[in-house]
Amino acid sequence: MRPILEVKNLSKNYGGVQAVDVVSFSVERGSITGLIGPNGAGKSTALNVIGGLLPPAGGSVVFDGVDVTGQPMHRLARRGLVRTFQLARVFGNLTTIENLLVAAPAHRGDSPLGILAGKRYWGQQERQLVEQARGLLASFGMAGKEDEYAHNLSGGQKRAVETMRALMMKPKLLLLDEPMAGLSPSLSRQLEDMFLELSAGGLSLLLVEHGLDTVERICGKVIVMAQGKVLSEGRMAELRTRREVQDAYVIG
Ligand SMILES: Nc1ncnc2c1ncn2[C@@H]1O[C@H](COP(=O)(O)OP(=O)(O)OP(=O)(O)O)[C@@H](O)[C@H]1O
Ligand SMILES: [Mg+2]
Repeated sequence: MRPILEVKNLSKNYGGVQAVDVVSFSVERGSITGLIGPNGAGKSTALNVIGGLLPPAGGSVVFDGVDVTGQPMHRLARRGLVRTFQLARVFGNLTTIENLLVAAPAHRGDSPLGILAGKRYWGQQERQLVEQARGLLASFGMAGKEDEYAHNLSGGQKRAVETMRALMMKPKLLLLDEPMAGLSPSLSRQLEDMFLELSAGGLSLLLVEHGLDTVERICGKVIVMAQGKVLSEGRMAELRTRREVQDAYVIG
């Protein structure tokens, strides 16, 4: 079967800084693929270009067999390609569950904000969305935080909300930029299990992560970037033994 994501010769520069420099890789369907590398390697920039936040300077992105190069984020999200941000973006003045509901795709032409109008306006589909949101909160151990304003959540909990919001969009491919950052070790382990479960259910994930033990536990193929280029590719256990990978992390 064709990979869910095929990135070919992708490039992106910020002025003279070649942040992503002719990068090619693919993500197989239902896999958890890792994207690692030292600080400044270009991982977030690559995710930004693939996810439609930034236009590429060159190269192509094929998602689910369709060339989507340069398409904006909202259009990609409708196709099933959703990304999260390295810095969590939550609406502080909405409650936790409202943060999840505004991320859900609109139904029957209703604005997602309409969902917030009040319980008596909720139809069947809206109730399903609320159930979905409550299920996610429970599986993240945050059921008790449903009505808490998001600005009162801890940094780790905000990150979790960011991930849950992405999942509310029922993506086919989820691009995750350091979803474990700031999470307690136990919540981080819970998230690993959840990613494994989601991938067993058919979701494909591209995971940028600094915690290499996490990467080794849950990723199949791992792509190593350094200075804008793909340096190496393989399984984590094997990559740890490669000289060029060790050097990139030391020099990084
Ligand atoms: N908005 C920007 N303007 C100018 N240069 C940038 C910008 N964003 C990133 N860069 C530069 O592009 C390169 C790649 O940065 P990027 O954030 O993609 O790396 P990263 O691998 O995600 O790093 P980290 O692990 O620290 O998150 C770095 O040299 C960085 O300084
Ligand atoms: Mg980054």
